[in-house]
Amino acid sequence: MSEHIVLIGFMGAGKSTVGRLLSEKLSIQLLDTDAMIEARAGMTISEIFSVRGEDAFRAIETDVLKELAQRQQPAVISTGGGMPMREENRRALRELGSVVYLQVKPETVCERLANDTVRPLLAGGDRRQKVETLLAQRGPVYEETAQLKVDADSQKPEAVAEEILVKLHMDL
Ligand code: S3P
Repeated sequence: MSEHIVLIGFMGAGKSTVGRLLSEKLSIQLLDTDAMIEARAGMTISEIFSVRGEDAFRAIETDVLKELAQRQQPAVISTGGGMPMREENRRALRELGSVVYLQVKPETVCERLANDTVRPLLAGGDRRQKVETLLAQRGPVYEETAQLKVDADSQKPEAVAEEILVKLHMDL
């Protein structure tokens, strides 16, 4: 099996942007689990949440990880922020390769996603409160899942990507 680079972390951490930079630098494919889910379901993430519910979305996330496990070519895999919350997903993520946690603070998430309309978990109510509550639950899970943690808060995506390559000894 090949070693993928797997990016995990909260919404707004920059997983997709950093993933794109890494895939360009390494000349390997970028796979985004949210995009794979939308293609599979033929619906947007928001539609899946509203029509089929969050549990159905989480089940597709797990299926997508199983599909990724069959893949031979190394890739950068950008994951949805809730992916590591299931124990079986944590195991599957680690089996895919090097899991990197992009760490951000709640205030940064709120700034970056101030105008977001596509993330159902942030819709309605006190967004700051939602982000703080979810991040408090998820932070330790991200830490437990990843082999590597990178500050994605005070650094630009380019610097985050460089740091990942250096720490994975892929900066040649
Ligand atoms: C989610 C994060 C989203 C997407 C879905 C649920 C979460 O992905 O998978 O809206 O539970 O944190 P991003 O982390 O790419 O925003």
